[in-house]
Amino acid sequence: MDIPKTTPLHMKRILEGNRRWVKDQLAKDPQYFEKLALGQKPRYLFIGCSDSRVPGSGITGTGPGEMFTHRNIANLVVHTDMNLLSVLQYAVEVLEVEVIMVVGHYGCGGVAAAASNNQYGLIDNWLTNIRDVIRLHETELLRIKDDEERLRRLVELNVIEQVRNLAKTTIIQNARKRQNPPKLHGLVYDIREGILKDLEVSTEDLNEFQHIYQRDKAVLTAGTQVLLEKLQQEDNDYQAPAAQQQEEQPQPLAADASQEEPAELALNSNGKQTGRRA
Ligand code: CO
Repeated sequence: MDIPKTTPLHMKRILEGNRRWVKDQLAKDPQYFEKLALGQKPRYLFIGCSDSRVPGSGITGTGPGEMFTHRNIANLVVHTDMNLLSVLQYAVEVLEVEVIMVVGHYGCGGVAAAASNNQYGLIDNWLTNIRDVIRLHETELLRIKDDEERLRRLVELNVIEQVRNLAKTTIIQNARKRQNPPKLHGLVYDIREGILKDLEVSTEDLNEFQHIYQRDKAVLTAGTQVLLEKLQQEDNDYQAPAAQQQEEQPQPLAADASQEEPAELALNSNGKQTGRRA
């Protein structure tokens, strides 16, 4: 199909590229578009950054029809983002995707902006979600002396936290009650090398807080019980040395039963020792 003569110059690049691509696809498979038009059954949901250097299909070598996609600045999973939630719900419940991946990338401008002291306007509210990641992992981040290294780690931690956010949504919580829920993955892309790395966010990691987000009384009770037992054990461990110390306290020298009970010493408000019975 010819490009209309009225097409402005800045759009010619796009339309010409499109026509070239159609020609290439048809050369490989004359039925290519007819098959795609029948419908989609993608295996993957890609949640990535809007950064122009990180296109989902391009960096994963997948073609049209294989990957449902949601992109926003710094690949965030925000529980009040109706756009993301709609994409997620449709992908999980209607398309039944098998794998959901959150894909961050080193050199992410959104992550760098969140870590800086500069103000950028409205977007700072969006970036506050990344500042929450900094708050959760501040100790680890502060230990990294090299600025670039610290930002790279923040990119990774941001991906990990977004996978956790994903797991907390009612959509994933409900999916986990069914057979074969979608597998969640956190990946990071290195723009300088083009390599994708799986951060291996473990399922155990996600199970740790499952009892809080799963709307199921049995899970809540069991999960809370595990935590309560752990806390009780910690309390016991803490009290044990204190009790032992008391036992080891020297006994009063006057062990004569006939002697009057020694006056217990206490400190009065002036800090002076005073006999309680005096
Ligand atoms: Co980015």
